[in-house]
Amino acid sequence: MAAQKTLTPVHFFSHGSTMMLGEECESATYWKKCGDEAIAHGIKGVIMMGAHWDCLGDKIQVATNPKPNKSPVAYVHPSKYANYKLNPDIPTANRCVEMLKAEGFNAEANPNFDWIHDTYLILIRMFPGGCPPTTLVSMNARFDPHYHMKVGSTLRALRKENYLVIGSGGAVHNLYRNVWGPMLQHRDNFAQENPPEAWAMEFRQAVQDVISNNSGPKLRRGMTRLMKHPQYRDAHATDDHFMSAMFVSGAAGDVEDEGYYGELMAEDWELTNMCNSQYTFGTWGGSMREVA
Ligand SMILES: [Fe+2]
Repeated sequence: MAAQKTLTPVHFFSHGSTMMLGEECESATYWKKCGDEAIAHGIKGVIMMGAHWDCLGDKIQVATNPKPNKSPVAYVHPSKYANYKLNPDIPTANRCVEMLKAEGFNAEANPNFDWIHDTYLILIRMFPGGCPPTTLVSMNARFDPHYHMKVGSTLRALRKENYLVIGSGGAVHNLYRNVWGPMLQHRDNFAQENPPEAWAMEFRQAVQDVISNNSGPKLRRGMTRLMKHPQYRDAHATDDHFMSAMFVSGAAGDVEDEGYYGELMAEDWELTNMCNSQYTFGTWGGSMREVA
């Protein structure tokens, strides 16, 4: 309990489609609330793994481009993102490289990387008044759950220094099985003309069960095991949007985190079969949430 008082919470956010940047919804409201709370608690910066940047071989990189451009966001008017000023935290990025190297990762700085909406969509939603110093960590394209969990456990120490750790990905995120018609024809990403299909509901529930019933190292085991769930490949045609969930389980699944269960704080189904669940692990000040 005493240790938790000094630890920041950790978020696993499902960023969904690009339209989540422009349309109001429960998730967007929650992202803003998390940003407001982080600012109120004087965070030193954000440490973030997204879902759109991966490195080949055994490499992992940390973004050190001092003036990154933004990749364009389809289906969103540029006025909602073009002028938002990104705030790369170069000293912390270099520190993350050293922390990862010390744990045996083949880590290096990448001074050329431009930021993509998987990360800055969330930052704009959380911090519309200005981006805090932010460090982006890549994934590794082998998409090994235990590797990404260990990236999270390696950087977990930064929670004790008032950095906010965020994973941006998706709980159920299979672009091949989304129903795109209402968005493409009518710009309506929340149409939900039909209920989600059974595999999507099933995997969404499996994620919820693992997170709400496991804490500490059991959370790490449960999250990594989800990639062997019978509906995993239906829910994630590619692994990229589930890697940051592994990262988050590393950052929030230490022995010190036992008893601090993740909680589903907001959720929006989008494009019929994509489940944008927003989870938070731990609380500001270390009070323990009631567990159902
Ligand atoms: Fe994405």
